[in-house]
Amino acid sequence: MKKIILDVDTGSDDAIAIMTAVLSPELDVLGICTVNGNRCVENTTENTLRVVEYIGSNVPVYKGCALPMVVSLTKGRRECVPFEGQKNKKEDVHGDYLPIPESTITYEKECAVSWLVKTLMDSDGDISLIDVGPLTNLAMAMRIQPGIIDKIDTLYIMGGGWREQNITPAAEFNFWIDPEAAKIVINSGCKIVMVPLDATHAGAISIKDAMELREESSPGAKLTAALIEQRLKGYNNWQPMQDQTTVPIHDALAVCAAIDMDVLADVRYIHVDVDAGGGICDGQSVCDVEHKDKEAEPNVHIALNANVGRFAELLKTTLKRTV
Ligand code: RIB
Ligand code: CA
Repeated sequence: MKKIILDVDTGSDDAIAIMTAVLSPELDVLGICTVNGNRCVENTTENTLRVVEYIGSNVPVYKGCALPMVVSLTKGRRECVPFEGQKNKKEDVHGDYLPIPESTITYEKECAVSWLVKTLMDSDGDISLIDVGPLTNLAMAMRIQPGIIDKIDTLYIMGGGWREQNITPAAEFNFWIDPEAAKIVINSGCKIVMVPLDATHAGAISIKDAMELREESSPGAKLTAALIEQRLKGYNNWQPMQDQTTVPIHDALAVCAAIDMDVLADVRYIHVDVDAGGGICDGQSVCDVEHKDKEAEPNVHIALNANVGRFAELLKTTLKRTV
């Protein structure tokens, strides 16, 4: 089994990602770190606890950063921190809380950043990270203890976009919420597999898959079916896919890549950087796919497409399981 740590801003697709990771026989989830992103960190932590309890798991949850590193210090740069942009709107794909019972379990006393540093430094360098929210926790950990960089086996990131964006004409949400954190992590030097919107949109999951999962008895399958339907409604009001019977489950694709890289397609080893300049391209992932900057060394394995058939099959097989 591959040892992994999840870093999430639970949200509806994070929830599916968590269930996929915990239910997979290939992954050993050592802990789940939460961060401010889709909602404030209190909500993303409560939602994470709800999912863990709902599928009967005892994976520990560590509460992380409540705010991005510096973005909210500059007037006019990022008003909505914590993000409330979709709250109570028809395009909302997450909701404040997941549609499952309130948690009766609690998160660990140790904060996510210090647990991350300690766990990685004590390890043999055999732990991979799967980051599917803003990168604040990991960037803070790298600043506190740069030694963790060589201790990370592989870092799977759901974030950024080459030709696809979602929160501004230039940026993807996870990188936009904390551009400095994204810039620190992308330039850290660890082995990165980046799963951007170009891949997650190509890997959009069909409502037919949700209907198949709804027929199952396992809690993971039933909740995933409900969340796919919830996301489809929000996406068709906000950013409809070409096939409006499909919806991206961004974070689950990053988890499935850690299980089987065949869910990704057109993976290139290129130079990527992040704009943290605070202007109209704030948070943009600049992907040098054509190697235009001859001075810039490749630093990221980026997937420009997805194998949606393999992704859907792996997702359904895994989510039909129980712990
Ligand atoms: O842009 C998609 C990403 O933003 C996903 O991780 C989703 O959960 C949101 O955090
Ligand atoms: Ca997320």
